[in-house]
Amino acid sequence: MDLLVKALDVRQRAYAPYSGYKVGAALESEGGVLYTGCNVENLAYGSTMCAERNAIFKMVADGEHRFSRIAVATKDGGTPCGACLQVLLEFTDDPSSVEVICGSDAGKVAVYTLSQLLPHGFRSDSVQRTER
Ligand code: THU
Repeated sequence: MDLLVKALDVRQRAYAPYSGYKVGAALESEGGVLYTGCNVENLAYGSTMCAERNAIFKMVADGEHRFSRIAVATKDGGTPCGACLQVLLEFTDDPSSVEVICGSDAGKVAVYTLSQLLPHGFRSDSVQRTER
């Protein structure tokens, strides 16, 4: 899978000296552009940022707000954390059509939809949205 290959590749550039758990993410925007991200840790642990959010933030900085699929590469094929899933939810109108491909170095691959991983994420019409 092309996207997973990109995620595995960027995983090698993760900065994870504290946990030793390197994560790579690659997503495809609706405009067809690929964005990658890796986790970047910090001595002040709470300042760490996950791979998935780094990839999403690059997409937003480039002016895109919608993505169709994301691949996440770890050593064991783990799924994204709750905070990342909530951020992913922000950038799709149809979470049941967004693919989340989770893979490992060893070739383990599992494909989920965003709705499967976050069936009841926070969405509210009561929070005013001023602009996108
Ligand atoms: N991490 C991610 O990059 N993505 C996730 O979805 C979960 C966790 C990172 C944060 C930290 O650098 C390391 O993995 C261990 O938690």
